[in-house]
Order: sequence, then structure tokens, then C-alpha cells
Amino acid sequence: MTTQTITRGETVLDARGVTMRFGGLTAVHNVDLTVDSGEIVGLIGPNGAGKTTFFNCLTGLYVPTEGEVRFKGQVLPPKSFKVTAAGIARTFQNIRLFANMSVLENVLVGRHTRTKEGFWAAILRSPGFHRAERASRERAMELLEFVGLAHKAEHLARNLPYGEQRKLEIARALASEPGLLLLDEPTAGMNPQETRATEELVFAIRDKGIAVLVIEHDMRFIFNLCDRVAVLVQGEKLVEGDSATVQGDERVVAAYLGEPFEDAPGAEEIAEVEAAEAQAAPTTDAAPGKESDR
Ligand SMILES: Nc1ncnc2c1ncn2[C@@H]1O[C@H](COP(=O)(O)OP(=O)(O)O)[C@@H](O)[C@H]1O
Ligand SMILES: [Mg+2]
Repeated sequence: MTTQTITRGETVLDARGVTMRFGGLTAVHNVDLTVDSGEIVGLIGPNGAGKTTFFNCLTGLYVPTEGEVRFKGQVLPPKSFKVTAAGIARTFQNIRLFANMSVLENVLVGRHTRTKEGFWAAILRSPGFHRAERASRERAMELLEFVGLAHKAEHLARNLPYGEQRKLEIARALASEPGLLLLDEPTAGMNPQETRATEELVFAIRDKGIAVLVIEHDMRFIFNLCDRVAVLVQGEKLVEGDSATVQGDERVVAAYLGEPFEDAPGAEEIAEVEAAEAQAAPTTDAAPGKESDR
């Protein structure tokens, strides 16, 4: 894998005031988010919070209604293939592979933004493609090795078990040699073992100098992995911080439980318990016998 020389802490992704409306529905509202080089940033939030829509705004699939997205200082062009060429790659919540192509071919297709010959040359295997092919195949095999799929290079993508299809999606995304990788629910449908392996894979990707922004519902995965986590609720960024900050924020819990935090049911009971504890406290300190025994 080619290592990129990126100084840790340089802002790779800078999304400012991103808003996306669909008719009357505001799916994403005024979201700011940065990702620095060397960072793994998590994006969490309940279903329908706008996470995937936000990704779509970052990758040129949608043109945000308002706001601006910069990658390494440059405003992104509003076309997904240009965004990929600029250095942002992604995987999809719903796996998008070429089911009837081999594992290796899927990765080769992912390289088309990095080879002069392009997408159709890769598909049609034109003369120009053959010249570039060997180098491309070597790189693709390297990536398959990296995600642990080299032994299945010649298998049809559709014959891979689900967890391996997700890995293949990651290999294909990496084939465009991105500076930033966006992962949309990379462990959805995986068993705990596969999830752990994916965690290691994401760390390894980060160690290659690729910044990562990841959407996931598996909180253990997110909090183990991420340097920073942003919480999206109803299209707005509610909280952002390190794992401890986000886990300790009552609004996040409330958002997931779907209850308004203020006047939450049970507040009275909590007050009663606290009052009872306060009363009980002096008795505990002066536990019978303890003080007099010493
Ligand atoms: N292309 C679209 N057209 C209209 N509404 C959409 C479109 N994409 C997403 N939405 C709506 O935007 C909201 C956010 O969806 P989504 O970004 O998929 O949420 P998440 O990924 O957080 O679960 C939902 O209410 C969804 O129905
Ligand atoms: Mg989604």
C-alpha cells in the first residue's frame, strides 16, 4: 500500500453548515464536521437521523441545499466520480458490488479513477488496459491481501458470505487510493468475531495514513475505534467529543431512547431515591459499632 505523507492534525475534511432538504423534509440541518489526518471519527445517531444523507452530501451524490464541503482545502466538485478522484472513497450501507464479477475485478473497477485507461477500458479490456493491467492487478491483489480476501480473488462477488462482501467493498474503496474513507455501517450483519476483525482493519487503514469517518450502530465498535464521535439527531449535530464525553452525555441517551430529556418520566422517582440516600448517608457513616470499636 502506498503510504501518503500526511502530517497528523491537518484538516482533511471540512464540512460547514451542511443542510440537505428533500421537499419539506430537512434531513440534515446546518452540520459542521471536520476530520483530521490520522483520525478515526464516528458518526452515530438513531435511524433516520440523516447520517447516510450527510455522507451523500460529502461524496457528491447529493449537492447540499446549503453549506460547503472542503477536502484538503478544496471545495468538492458536485459529482461523485470527481469526489472519488479528489480522494474521498466510501462504502455503502446497502452493499454495492458487481455481483457477477470476480472479487479481483471488483477491486480493479475501484481503481478506474486512478488509471488513465478508465472504467470502460477496465470492463472492455482494451489494449491500453492491458498495459496498465499488470500494475493494477498487483495493487488490487495487495489490497485483497490487506483485507484478508486474496485467497478468494477469483470467486464471484455474489458467492462471498456477507461479512466478506463488506470487506470487499472496503478493498474496492481503497483501490481509488483515498485520503479519506467513509464507511456506512461497515459491520451491519456481522457476527462479533467479524466485527472485531473489522475494527482491526479500520485501525490498519488509519495507520496507512487514511483518515476515516464511520457510521455505525454498534456502540462498542464505535467507542473502541473512534478518536472523536459526533451524534446526529433529527438532522442536527447534538453532541461531539471523545468517547467518554459522548457516553457521559445524557442527551445522547435520551435521543436513543426517543424520550425528551427534560421532564423525563421517572424524574420524581429519581428525586425520591436521592432524598432517601441523603437521609441514609449519615447513618452509614456512623455505622453502629464501627466508630466506638476503634
Ligand atoms: N433521497 C431522499 N428523498 C427523500 N427523503 C430522503 C432521501 N434520503 C433520505 N431521506 C430521508 O431523510 C431522512 C434521513 O435519512 P438517512 O440519511 O437515510 O438516515 P440515517 O442514515 O441516519 O438512518 C429520513 O427521514 C429519510 O427518509
Ligand atoms: Mg443510513
